Amino acid sequence: MCPPDHYGIYYEINPWMSVAKQAQSDQARRQWETLYNLYRDLGVTVELMAPAEGLPDMVFTANAGVVSNDLFIASNFRHPERRGEEEHFCDWFKSHGYRVERLPRQYYFEGMGDVKLYRDLLFAGFYFRSDVRSHLMVGEKLGKLVVSIELADKRFYHLDTCFCPLDDDLVMYFPPALQEYSRKAVQSHTKAQIEVGEEDALAFACNCVVVDRHIILNRASQSLRESLEARGFTVQQVSLSEFLKAGGGAGCLTLAL
Ligand code: ARG
Repeated sequence: MCPPDHYGIYYEINPWMSVAKQAQSDQARRQWETLYNLYRDLGVTVELMAPAEGLPDMVFTANAGVVSNDLFIASNFRHPERRGEEEHFCDWFKSHGYRVERLPRQYYFEGMGDVKLYRDLLFAGFYFRSDVRSHLMVGEKLGKLVVSIELADKRFYHLDTCFCPLDDDLVMYFPPALQEYSRKAVQSHTKAQIEVGEEDALAFACNCVVVDRHIILNRASQSLRESLEARGFTVQQVSLSEFLKAGGGAGCLTLAL
């Protein structure tokens, strides 16, 4: 995770962001700390990286790249506003003993924002941010088959805003955010699915983090909570309103190592 010292809405690169609707920094700090403390309470070891001035979206560490064992494949951000983050993320991984690999510059790739692992498959989103041509390269480097998912709603510009595997069988997703053919791909390559409604999707319920049987998310409706609990999960809601203003939730604020 990366503390929100320099977080704020200073540019607009997705429909959630408006410089006229600034995030409140005290509240953002409290919300981020609540998430951090919740991980700690669940027994998770949280590594931190130093925030950098002028890079407000660095809090969204899910976008740093993809991590697999000691390999880190760094992101190539689509928007120039975020490209300055790349060297900070690469430096962190280098200094923590990871092998750092980069894709050719022309292939936009936004890390775990657009990649989700399910069993031996790599579900990878494209269209708004990552370039579909990056998927094969990432799959090759990780030795995994890729299921490319075409995103269809600009409010759900990263795969992790609308799709999340919860365990080896079950995924949760918001079907309208995916192109029709990609919805079929999700249905045919996963054993079971929970389809969330628009209200939950807009509350970033799919942008969750799974720790054992705990699902950590900004907010979920009672009916979604009940269907998750019926499958043996505990739902932990952490209000992240200040980060939703940038288009990010719990999943975006976290990169699993
Ligand atoms: N403002 C950031 C952007 O538009 C939010 C990134 C959210 N991260 C994520 N993994 N979905 O790039």
